[in-house]
Amino acid sequence: MSPDSLSNLYTRGRNALPGGVCSSTRFNQAWGKPVYASRSKGARFWDVEGREFLDFSMSHGATLLGHAPDCLKPAFDTAWQMGVMCSLDTPFHIELAEQLCELVPCAERVRFTSSGSEATLHALRLCRAVSGREKIIRFHGHFHGYHEFTVVAGHPPADQLGASPPYRESAGIPRSVAELVIPLEYNDIEALEATVLKHKHEAGTILIEPVDYNCGCITPRPGFLEKARELATKHDMILFFDEIQSFAKKSSGGAQRDFGVTPDICTIGKSLGAGLPLSAIAGRAELMDHFKPVGNVAHSGTFNAPLLCILAGLAFVDEIKKPEFWSRIHDVSARLDASLQDISKRSSVPVRFQTYGSRFGIIFGTREPVWSYKQSLCHKKETMLEFCRQTTARGVYFHDYGGGSCHHGFSLAHTDADIARGLEVIEDSLKAMKA
Ligand SMILES: Cc1ncc(COP(=O)(O)O)c(C=O)c1O
Repeated sequence: MSPDSLSNLYTRGRNALPGGVCSSTRFNQAWGKPVYASRSKGARFWDVEGREFLDFSMSHGATLLGHAPDCLKPAFDTAWQMGVMCSLDTPFHIELAEQLCELVPCAERVRFTSSGSEATLHALRLCRAVSGREKIIRFHGHFHGYHEFTVVAGHPPADQLGASPPYRESAGIPRSVAELVIPLEYNDIEALEATVLKHKHEAGTILIEPVDYNCGCITPRPGFLEKARELATKHDMILFFDEIQSFAKKSSGGAQRDFGVTPDICTIGKSLGAGLPLSAIAGRAELMDHFKPVGNVAHSGTFNAPLLCILAGLAFVDEIKKPEFWSRIHDVSARLDASLQDISKRSSVPVRFQTYGSRFGIIFGTREPVWSYKQSLCHKKETMLEFCRQTTARGVYFHDYGGGSCHHGFSLAHTDADIARGLEVIEDSLKAMKA
């Protein structure tokens, strides 16, 4: 492809795609334009103007093995030889489901989807069908995808906390759907207990992003997940962990294994396909067997689990079963976090870094630990956008998330020198910003 200027492409793009992008958040608010890429490999991508970026987004966590990792090549070859099948299951599908049942504590049955949004959509349908109760309890700051049930009360503005019906994050969400969502602050055990007691007759599901990466990487306070487990069991509710992001970020068993609390059902995804679209719903057999054709809950789709994505999933699982994979992730994570804490102390711009496994949150406006969405509202969006402008000017890419406090991360392909360069650019960028 001949080099095309970003501005030209943006003009063409806007005439063909709303906003010039295929996903609304791909419009980079820090740049005032989308990023149009030409190539990626390892820890880097290049844009259409030939600029090289050391990537600290890594496809929002999907390319944990790096861009185009060599271990994916056989998956492409095999899929081609077998006929690039879609809408047909193969022995590989069963093998990957079996492997996930070995790795993920709650998994006795697995259903594959392409996106995480599809996974949470169908899992919530299953939860409502099995519990017989339509309302769901969820937490501010957690993110569960883009369908009607999940873009309610995730990240409301401060004046909409406690709104009734809960805040709808997109136009087009029916009020009646919002009325089925009961939002709470994460890590507030008393509020959780009181809400369960008040709504247990109408709410059958407690939906949790156990490591809340989507609000700056908030981990569960000791006892919180345990309490959720206890309440769900006691009141015959379904405990649902959305591990689309947290699966395989610190261990191969996800946050449920790290924190020792097993939900009834979970969703996993993101890095599962090593950059290809693959997510899954995994849970107790008794629950999962309510999906048709065993039970009466619909889950089907032409593009559920195309062969190439399943083969990529198997390649990914092979990697995360290697002890050296996790020693590398843990080693880099610990060193990166220690350096980020030092940078925060030295920075004249108040900033908080929170790390869990291969990803970390950046929250501007505080240096104190952030445990809830309410606390994260101190985050300064304009400062985040300026930070992204400063880092990309130095060749290091952080996704801007519209200025939100979200998550960033490294991959297996990041060398020690890449990590050092990232840290240097973070510090230089903060220095170049006004306190
Ligand atoms: C916890 C969580 N759930 C669901 C989703 C939605 O996944 P997808 O973007 O694949 O639809 C995401 C994506 O960021 C996520 O982080």
